[in-house]
Amino acid sequence: MLLTHATLATMTDGYGLIPDAAVAIDGDRIVWVGPMADLPAPLTQADSIDCRGRLVTPGLIDCHSHAVHAGHRAVEFELRLQGASYAEIARAGGGILSTVTATRAATEADLLASALPRIDQMIASGATTIEVKSGYGLTVADEIKMLRAARQIGDQRQVTIRATHLAAHAIPPEYAGRARDYIADVAIPSLWAAHAEGLADAVDAFCETIAFSTDELAPLFAEARRLGLPVKLHAEQLTDQHGAGFAARHAALSADHLEYLSPEGIAAMAAAGTVAVILPGAFYTLRESQSPPIAALRAAGVPMAVATDLNPGSSPMASLPLAMNMACTLFRLTPQEALLGTTAHAARALGLADRGRIAPGLRADLCLWNADHPAELSYRIGATPLHARIFGGHLDA
Ligand code: NIG
Ligand code: FE
Repeated sequence: MLLTHATLATMTDGYGLIPDAAVAIDGDRIVWVGPMADLPAPLTQADSIDCRGRLVTPGLIDCHSHAVHAGHRAVEFELRLQGASYAEIARAGGGILSTVTATRAATEADLLASALPRIDQMIASGATTIEVKSGYGLTVADEIKMLRAARQIGDQRQVTIRATHLAAHAIPPEYAGRARDYIADVAIPSLWAAHAEGLADAVDAFCETIAFSTDELAPLFAEARRLGLPVKLHAEQLTDQHGAGFAARHAALSADHLEYLSPEGIAAMAAAGTVAVILPGAFYTLRESQSPPIAALRAAGVPMAVATDLNPGSSPMASLPLAMNMACTLFRLTPQEALLGTTAHAARALGLADRGRIAPGLRADLCLWNADHPAELSYRIGATPLHARIFGGHLDA
């Protein structure tokens, strides 16, 4: 397959723009990229798609989602608008735990069926790789059920699913006041089970006053390392619990949220090469006031990714272009940083070296947009200017 007359944002060096470009694809791989004028003659024989100047980017990568879950939390949305805080609702037994109740009651088939329409929205917004977390089961069986549902999405849709075992997301009522016992009895055994079944690509946790401390999480991260699984962490979302530094010391792929990240946390992330995953949907939904320290992350050279954080509580949002718009307007990322955040840097946050840029040898996951400049993807509010998507060398029907 050959794409011709594309305005190409390769994301190899900033936007890596090539005007009037061609991309040749063989099987599921990109084999040639460059200006039309340089296209080798033998490649012109391939089936070609004339992009007519349209912007072509790498397929978007959503590196943080909770797309598998049961139920919704619209009533909590109403409560928060009346003044209740996310933490207050959580302490009263709502929040994550209300989704846990619904998710425990759901079957694997129920979870898959309710996730697919959300995944379809993500795909329609340009996603070709989606990370999906567990974390609403909080028993071994219910965590495994969530991860199996996540894996099944990849068989049902033209998208790569990366499954993250969010082993320590909240303390379930039966372990109230016994966080360490939860880690020993449930989080670590569920990690063994997930690993044995090949269900986990990474391990995650929520480090927060309403969830777990770094001390409580240390045995879980040690076990992940022993199994050879990379870690990620929800860190510094509502308060500074020194989670990012802890994650970086465990060579984490990413630390996510980071509104209350300290200078020490930034330095630790920079030293470890840990990606900062920026989640403006949760900041917006919870009407937070403290932004993540974007300028300091930029100055320290910490790569920033941007994701939807699609979940029923803090970020009921499926669109990566909307997350990019919010990252720019709320947090002052540049549109170039926002697009790097949903392509090259998002790939890195998932430990994937074969995607996120447009270059020979990489996976042929591409988006063709009804746009002619890459900043348009961040500039429009809630728009989905996707013209077509190519996944693993196949054009979506
Ligand atoms: O990434 N911060 C913790 N976890 C999710 C929210 C989950 C929920 O509220 O259901 C997040 O924002
Ligand atoms: Fe999250």
